[in-house]
Amino acid sequence: MTAERPRITIFDTTLRDGEQSPGCSMNQQEKLRLAHQLDRLGVDVIEAGFPIASDGDFEGVKAIAAVVRRPIIAGLARACRPDIERAWEALKDAAHPRIHVFLATSDIHLQYKLRITRDQCVAQARDAVRFAKTLCRDVEFSPEDATRTDPEFLCRVLEAVVEAGATTLNIPDTVGYTVPSEFGELITTIRQRVKGIENVTISAHCHNDLGMAVANALAGVAAGVRQVECTINGIGERAGNASLEEIVMAMRTRPDCYPYETGVVTEQIFAASQMLSEITGVTVQPNKAIIGRNAFAHEAGIHQDGMLKNPLTYEIMTPQSVGVPDSKLVLGKHSGRHALGLRCEQLGYQFDRRALDDIYRRFVRLADKIKHVEDHHLLELIRDTHKPAGSATPLIEPLAPAKAAGGNATAVNTPEPEPAKPFSIAPIAPTTNAFGVPLPVHLDHHHEQTQQEDYLWGV
Ligand code: KIV
Ligand code: ZN
Repeated sequence: MTAERPRITIFDTTLRDGEQSPGCSMNQQEKLRLAHQLDRLGVDVIEAGFPIASDGDFEGVKAIAAVVRRPIIAGLARACRPDIERAWEALKDAAHPRIHVFLATSDIHLQYKLRITRDQCVAQARDAVRFAKTLCRDVEFSPEDATRTDPEFLCRVLEAVVEAGATTLNIPDTVGYTVPSEFGELITTIRQRVKGIENVTISAHCHNDLGMAVANALAGVAAGVRQVECTINGIGERAGNASLEEIVMAMRTRPDCYPYETGVVTEQIFAASQMLSEITGVTVQPNKAIIGRNAFAHEAGIHQDGMLKNPLTYEIMTPQSVGVPDSKLVLGKHSGRHALGLRCEQLGYQFDRRALDDIYRRFVRLADKIKHVEDHHLLELIRDTHKPAGSATPLIEPLAPAKAAGGNATAVNTPEPEPAKPFSIAPIAPTTNAFGVPLPVHLDHHHEQTQQEDYLWGV
């Protein structure tokens, strides 16, 4: 019997904290489009904006609240009446509205930014939550800069807002300063010291200034956090927020370490990522985990050889599980014969080992010069390699059509290439790997080398 896994609420703030990052602002239509995709993605909460910030933000939140009915729709407000009233005005028609109130609690912020005392801070936080509660049942409170706040004072503020009716306590690492062990301990301290904490949800909101936002959020989850605030592509202030796709896929890929459930339809991740990039014009770094264009691309010969034998060798999740159409074998100077042979097959050519060696040597020289060898380069190279002048024995045989015509294969200088096939090719026994993905055929049946020799040749 398996124990039930705790459900983690995924709070997406792409449209609020994400939109605050340079170059990522969106108009109302764009926000609506993305909100519908977030709904398809299955997030639990959409933070749609900061209604007092501008009329555009207000209208955006209102429009999303009116049409996106499944998830909770949250609006941000500072801890003061005008902000809270404006947020409620935008949210009041939502099927599931939430007012998200925040107030800084660290001494640095109290002294230099807000210019209030600790006592004033506690009173303002309590009054703001009490007021928000008169308008909306669902109220979240965030002590901004929590991770640089004296933990004892932090607990005092949190206790006051729980008493005032807050239903979610969000712990922001506003400046991305904490580290996983410290953040986990902070959550433990809060759980031990704040009266009434068992009746509310604890949330993590981590920024990525030291590149640890996701690790910190996951450490928080291990310590008892049950809501994680995150953004698509990890966009957000400065170095960004914890990335939704990384958090969710860490849980899906390593349930042994993170035994939690989310409601995210992971197959919608890539579409959400692409849509956000398209709307904002902000591209994703190629090596970004989960959704970067290299996340499922392989160029090194050893890796390509392994991938062709069984994708489990170099992929810990399938591209399809995050909505990426397929893995990619990139042909460059690090590629090996195995991948080159497969690509040639996909283009309609099958070579014996000696012929492929010949093509391979030329291919490596070409790749050294032009870095990425595209199909048209490869076709040119095949045709050039096969110039019949010096050789009596044709090296190149068109693949299926020549065999179908009776196996009397002759050299073809300008054959029509077959349409390219996807990466995975027809399976042989065993038919699938542990991901349930068909195992590719090993191409080189004709030779009787040992597997080790074959391995060395293939790369
Ligand atoms: O980073 C932060 O502190 C915030 C709060 C408003 C939650 O975004
Ligand atoms: Zn933030």
